[in-house]
Amino acid sequence: MEINKLVQIGLEELDPVLKNPLDEVYKILIEKFQVSKLDILMNRSLEISNQEKEEYLRILSRRKKHEPLEYILQKAYFMGMPFYVNQNVLIPRFDTERSVEILVDYLEKESYHSMLEIGVGSGCVSVYLAHKFPQSTFLGVDISEEALEVANKNKTDYKALNLDLFQSDLFENVHGTFNVIYSNPPYIPTSDMEDLEPSVLEYEPQMALDGGLDGLVFYKEIASKGKKYLDDNGVLVFEIGIHQLEEIKAILEKEGFENVSYSLDYQGIPRVVWGEWRGECYV
Ligand SMILES: C[S@@+](CC[C@H](N)C(=O)[O-])C[C@H]1O[C@@H](n2cnc3c(N)ncnc32)[C@H](O)[C@@H]1O
Repeated sequence: MEINKLVQIGLEELDPVLKNPLDEVYKILIEKFQVSKLDILMNRSLEISNQEKEEYLRILSRRKKHEPLEYILQKAYFMGMPFYVNQNVLIPRFDTERSVEILVDYLEKESYHSMLEIGVGSGCVSVYLAHKFPQSTFLGVDISEEALEVANKNKTDYKALNLDLFQSDLFENVHGTFNVIYSNPPYIPTSDMEDLEPSVLEYEPQMALDGGLDGLVFYKEIASKGKKYLDDNGVLVFEIGIHQLEEIKAILEKEGFENVSYSLDYQGIPRVVWGEWRGECYV
């Protein structure tokens, strides 16, 4: 069948259910059949085999049920790099790239060369940073063994040998101290979970989203316990949810963190909050 016809079928199938059906159709064809957008636009009679057509139709029917394209294609882009994903991990979000910018600013300083990430998920943040800073050491933990399998695959794909990964409920199995601790923990208040979009609610792991009664449970635990795992002058960096800035700043200040600062995401929403730890003797 001609590729042009596949584009048409895709639009007919996805238009009633999705916002940008043409974008999605292009993404599927480009990722799945190794064609370029130019091929699709200029070489409209390019032949696609029956087997490929069947596969394309199967993808469309999954996407029609709101399954995220990233899970169907088992690939998500983060910081411009492809990462393997499946339904055991949160799909890396564009907003999380703001956290990476703050972490890079610290890791570029001479005295910041070790980082612990609590809740690595796909590993996108730690793998990206370990790849970028081969002389530094990284530890990523997650409570989910299934998520760690995904993170390990990404670690291997990017040859990030300076990243260690293991299972831990928060700091339970963590030893040693670090210059940087980072977490993008589950932060949706339990009562808001049911308002999430179907593609998130039905497909993404609840364990990666549900932040307890007020959505702040993980921030409180990590800020309070994390001090013991930070070197003097270390920094604790959090990705935060919408409307959580004031509460999380207060949590960090109450725990004795200094220079508490924040940055906005690309929509102007406070998204990253961090505080510096001078050491127990200064509190
Ligand atoms: C919001 S996701 C963030 C994933 C990844 N860091 C990212 O930004 O794409 C939160 C992660 O925390 C993990 N998690 C939940 N509870 C945890 C706990 N008690 N200890 C460690 N990790 C936990 C989840 O399995 C999930 O992978």
